[in-house]
Amino acid sequence: LTVALLFGGRSSEHSISCATAGGVLSAIDRERYDVIPIGVTREGAFTLQPDDAALFTLDPAAMPEVVDNGTRVCWPESTASRELSVAEADDVRRSLGEVDLVFPVLHGPYGEDGTIQGMLEFLGLPFVGSGVLASALGMDKHFTKTVLRQAGIPVAPWRTVTAHAWATDPDEAYSALDELGLPVFVKPARAGSSVGVSKVSSREVLAAAMSIALAEDDKVLIESGLIGREIEVAVLGGRPGETARASVAGEILVTGRDFYDFAAKYLDAHGVELVCPAELTVEELGEMQALGIRAFDAVGGAGLARVDFFLTGNGFVVNEINTMPGFTPISMFPTCWLNSGLSYPELIDEMIDVALA
Ligand code: DAL
Ligand code: MG
Repeated sequence: LTVALLFGGRSSEHSISCATAGGVLSAIDRERYDVIPIGVTREGAFTLQPDDAALFTLDPAAMPEVVDNGTRVCWPESTASRELSVAEADDVRRSLGEVDLVFPVLHGPYGEDGTIQGMLEFLGLPFVGSGVLASALGMDKHFTKTVLRQAGIPVAPWRTVTAHAWATDPDEAYSALDELGLPVFVKPARAGSSVGVSKVSSREVLAAAMSIALAEDDKVLIESGLIGREIEVAVLGGRPGETARASVAGEILVTGRDFYDFAAKYLDAHGVELVCPAELTVEELGEMQALGIRAFDAVGGAGLARVDFFLTGNGFVVNEINTMPGFTPISMFPTCWLNSGLSYPELIDEMIDVALA
């Protein structure tokens, strides 16, 4: 089976996607799959990359990056290339012509938001993960919460503020602080890995937080800061006619930091500990898994997702759903499945099998 692994991409999570690709390249079963690594540069060029996991490991000192090597790959048949020789271009065309499945391990806008999924559906290429709608919903925190709330799934109270509203009537945003109470989290609607997210504990810092979030997206959420444990569950979609299933839970213990921000996730794990399986009662775990699957179904998810929760004094609240969660070898998604009896290579097999079913 020939698998095109798509990674990198145009979003601020480019390097995280490269690290996820490194994890897949090192774990995928080479007896079963021929892998074509296709790196998308930050500018959006599709390039053929070396099949070398070592190039794409998570290293805080030098985050992995898709280097534009001049190759140009484009679907379905043609190879628009500046530099490729005719023979090389033929090679590219041949290898892409034989693709059985695309594995888009892209995070963030132009990757996790339905755009690439739309392209693949248009071309009739099977791919791992959610389709256009679920990807678009999962990427947009405003619409994720709207759909989850409609499905009766608890979410934190929030207010959505557009760049235009902020520019013309900032009092609206300030009034959200009165309504929601402090602290709040200010988040870009469409970003991931906590990029652009700030915790706001006083009115004076709202403007700075809004600028940081608006640099990522022209739509921002002001969300009530929940007090509780941060717990996540990994979901795998079923084959046709099967229901999705959820893993054991993983917990993020933040001790030495304000919150689980980008640096804590990828650059410096100091003050953060991932615990899997999380300490929960059987009832709590069952409730969380059921809610995770309900959230997955509510957005119409397929293939995989990680559903993030807070366990508050009032029970579980869904924070968000990630339709293409990070799965570097140390990430929560593969760790949750490992502790549920699926090794990383088996997890990849399962995602591919479900995509082709
Ligand atoms: N957005 C990051 C990759 C995650 O959800 O794991
Ligand atoms: Mg996320």
